[in-house]
Amino acid sequence: MGVFSGHDGVDTSHEQVVFCQDKPSGLRAIIGIYSTALGPALGGTRFHPYASEAEAVHDVLELSRAMAYKNALAGLDLGGGKAVIWGDPDQLKSEALLRAYGRFIESLGGRYITACDVGTYVADMDIVARETRWVTGRSEQHGGAGDSSVLTAWGVYQGMRAAAVHAWGDPSLAGRRVGIAGLGKVGKHLLGHLRDEGAVVSGTDVSERARQWVRAQHPEVALVEDVQALITSELDIYAPCALGGALNDETVPVLRASIVAGGANNQLAHPGIDKALADRGVLYVPDYLVNSGGVVQVADEIDGFNFERAKLRATKIYDTTRQLLAEAESEGVPPAAAADRMAERRMAEVGRLRTIMAPRP
Ligand SMILES: NC(=O)c1ccc[n+]([C@@H]2O[C@H](COP(=O)([O-])OP(=O)(O)OC[C@H]3O[C@@H](n4cnc5c(N)ncnc54)[C@H](O)[C@@H]3O)[C@@H](O)[C@H]2O)c1
Repeated sequence: MGVFSGHDGVDTSHEQVVFCQDKPSGLRAIIGIYSTALGPALGGTRFHPYASEAEAVHDVLELSRAMAYKNALAGLDLGGGKAVIWGDPDQLKSEALLRAYGRFIESLGGRYITACDVGTYVADMDIVARETRWVTGRSEQHGGAGDSSVLTAWGVYQGMRAAAVHAWGDPSLAGRRVGIAGLGKVGKHLLGHLRDEGAVVSGTDVSERARQWVRAQHPEVALVEDVQALITSELDIYAPCALGGALNDETVPVLRASIVAGGANNQLAHPGIDKALADRGVLYVPDYLVNSGGVVQVADEIDGFNFERAKLRATKIYDTTRQLLAEAESEGVPPAAAADRMAERRMAEVGRLRTIMAPRP
């Protein structure tokens, strides 16, 4: 079992997987580069106490592949990669560990560009940046894009509007009932956009702090007990904005919304669940399409961050969603399958152009 011979049924067409170790600081990192067909592989660093090395490898392989598809569909000139640091961030994270990690990234000469993910933050990227140029998601004071949830939520909102036109012939969400599961960074910004447009929003979160924020800032938003209560209530749109696997064998049969569009990564619990959604007449807008505003935001840092330029690009998620849903309908395939095809097409068609020799200026 390995990267060459296959790993737990995961697609292992990766170009490169790098193991990095610095024993004194406790760094054990794995950098996965799925594809550089469209450019340097951009994707965040997940710092997580995996139960085993095999689990860490499995995660980095899946996450880096997903980034290649996300970046391709977002129209970025970037390939897909991701890294994991194996360990408990609360106990292990230190300046030395982050800088050691930065030196390993630098050694790849720009083939991999990192960013924040679960367990890593803007302040960490500022430290990593002391050892490598190949880092995004730094603080605004250091020329960075800051908190990427701002444009992630903006992109999700654009995807919802595009789905609304597709389903109901009108992009307006005024008066539509939208349920948000997970009122964290992305969920809160999304809630703001929806309320600004006059949507009727309900939501749920396991965190009392998040619930308190909603009560204080948006007393008009109905907070329900849990995700089960949310998805079985009368909704037009369901927005999963918490963890992965939101669409599974338990939730899909009872879901009452006609559209699903949310910020969470890996919403489909297993292959085939998108077909189950389609069979129930639920329009699923692929997660990696609508949540790509965050990577668009940090990618903009590579050329010197400009918020308005990044926002304009994230707004294009509206057009891409419309195109994708139309294509899925005309081809009679679920939107998730159409998204994969569209991303693969761009990687092949645009990636191939590098075979045309063009001398560097
Ligand atoms: N932040 C970004 O730029 C970005 C970009 C792309 C994708 N995403 C994805 O969007 C999702 C949310 O990201 P975030 O940055 O807002 O994270 P976050 O940690 O700020 O928010 C997640 C929220 O979900 C809540 N939650 C967890 N389990 C729950 C449950 N069972 N029921 C209800 N609420 C629950 C948490 O309490 C938290 O408030 C994640 O899946 C993330 O991978 C985020």
